[in-house]
Amino acid sequence: MPTTIPPSALKQGRDFLDLDRIEPQELFAILRHAHAMKKNPLAFRPMEGKTLALIFEKPSTRTRVSFEVAMRQLGGQVTTLSGAEIQLGRGETIADTGRVLSRYVDVIMLRTFAEHKLYELASGASVPIINGLTDHSHPCQVMADLMTAEERLGSLKGKNVVWVGDGGDNVLISWIHAAPIFDFTLRIACPPAFVPPTEALIAAQKKGAKVTVTPDMDVTDGADVVLTDCWVSMHNSDAAARHEMLMPYQVNADLMKRAKPHAIFMHCLPAHRGEEVTDDVIDGAQSAVWDEAENRLHAHKAILCWCLNVLPTA
Ligand code: CP
Ligand code: NVA
Repeated sequence: MPTTIPPSALKQGRDFLDLDRIEPQELFAILRHAHAMKKNPLAFRPMEGKTLALIFEKPSTRTRVSFEVAMRQLGGQVTTLSGAEIQLGRGETIADTGRVLSRYVDVIMLRTFAEHKLYELASGASVPIINGLTDHSHPCQVMADLMTAEERLGSLKGKNVVWVGDGGDNVLISWIHAAPIFDFTLRIACPPAFVPPTEALIAAQKKGAKVTVTPDMDVTDGADVVLTDCWVSMHNSDAAARHEMLMPYQVNADLMKRAKPHAIFMHCLPAHRGEEVTDDVIDGAQSAVWDEAENRLHAHKAILCWCLNVLPTA
């Protein structure tokens, strides 16, 4: 299990594995630098001579391109690999792959299925490992989401954040991790068949998070932020049942009317128009999804610099 696999004792730098495993002040610093890097995107090049490896066991558009551009704008190099092309867990242990890659590259991002693979890689690698999405969580996405919400609304402290849709979604779990750190109220509307993992809710509540789960859609009343994601994630196989049970949880114009007038809509993308969100919402004035996608680039730069201990001192 993840918590029983320690990081390599030889670790140079810091892993970015999940938001609930990183000190709040570190996350605040990453976000502060992400905002600053957005204002001056080509000014800071601490990655000269350094290489980032991106490993994908699932498809990606945003994560792949934004990490590639981020590393290059920081002055570094990138090698992008698909899990199927390399020997990841194919006889060689994943920890051994981490040991070997650490002799070539300076930081590794992995997008995979079960999160234990990420922790195995981190246990063998002596360079930092970044979680580029697992079945369980998507912390890089939520750093960009938090950055976007801060741009539009200022601090999230005391704000009403509402999730509508799949309660087991990996992006939502990273939002649950963020709730006690950024001190917002998180209300989750989802069908009883697709609720968040109890242990994630309990862990967040123990840290003081104000998180509630309900099947009722009235949670959107007075929302500052409305979030959703696809109904069928890359690791889900029960598509028909999901569509049927999640249809009442579509984010549409009627639902957005219940939120505050200044409320924003966010979605990690890719969106399935006409399913979890309607065109009028994603293309409407309250939608922040394109800024959210752009902010992956700026957030990833700050995450890479944090992992390698080269964040600017200012
Ligand atoms: N939001 C997100 O992670 O997108 P990709 O799957 O395209 O990387
Ligand atoms: N929940 C989605 C996120 C995609 C970025 C999935 O895992 O497929």
